[in-house]
Amino acid sequence: MSKIRVAVFASGDGSNFQALLDNEDLVCEIVLLVCDNPGAKVIERAENAGIPTYVFDPNEYKSKLEYELHLLKALVNAEVRWMFLAGYMRILSPLLVEVGEDRILNIHPSLLPAFPGKDAIKQALEAGVEKTGVTVHYVDEGIDTGRIVAQEEVEILPNDTEKTLKERIQRVEHRLYPQVINDVLIEFSKYDKGI
Ligand code: GRF
Repeated sequence: MSKIRVAVFASGDGSNFQALLDNEDLVCEIVLLVCDNPGAKVIERAENAGIPTYVFDPNEYKSKLEYELHLLKALVNAEVRWMFLAGYMRILSPLLVEVGEDRILNIHPSLLPAFPGKDAIKQALEAGVEKTGVTVHYVDEGIDTGRIVAQEEVEILPNDTEKTLKERIQRVEHRLYPQVINDVLIEFSKYDKGI
C-alpha cells in the first residue's frame, strides 16, 4: 500500500521536521515542506533530503486569503492528504482549516490549555510552574485550541533557562510527534479506504 502523502509546515529551524524525516517507521511520506519564511533553516533541511518545498513571503500578498489560495493549489497539486504543523508561526485561515477537514495536527511546547500562542516556554518559566510539557492537537480556527491528541509532561528544574528547558522539551517533541502522527494515521486508515 502506498504511503499517505503529507505536508509539513514550518517557519524556522525545523528540528521537528528533521525528526520526522529521520524517523524510519513513519507511515506517511512527506511530499512537501511549506514555509512562510524564505530565510528559514528548515528549507535547507528539505533541500538536503530532496523534499519539494513551497516557500512564500506573506508580505508579497495583499491578504491571507490570497496567499492561502496559492498555497492550497500547491497542496492539491502535490496530492497532500494530511498537514502537520511543526513550528509554523501563522494562524491558518478558516478556508484552510475547513479544507483540511480534521486532517491537520500541530505540536505545541506546553501542556495546553496552559500557555497557548507564542513564547510558551518563556510563559511557563515566568509563571513559576513546576512542570510544563508538549501537546499534539488538531488544528481549528483558534490559537492552539483544537482537540488534544496527546500530551507529555516535562519537569521544570530550579536552574532552568529558556535554552535548557527548550532542549528537554524538544527532545520529547522529536520522539512524540512521529509516534502520534503514526498512531493517528493508522487509526484513520481503518476508516478511510481511500488511502
Ligand atoms: C517547537 O518547539 C514546536 O513545539 C513549536 O515550535 C517549535 C519549532 O521548533 N510549535 P523547530 O523549528 O521544529 O525546531
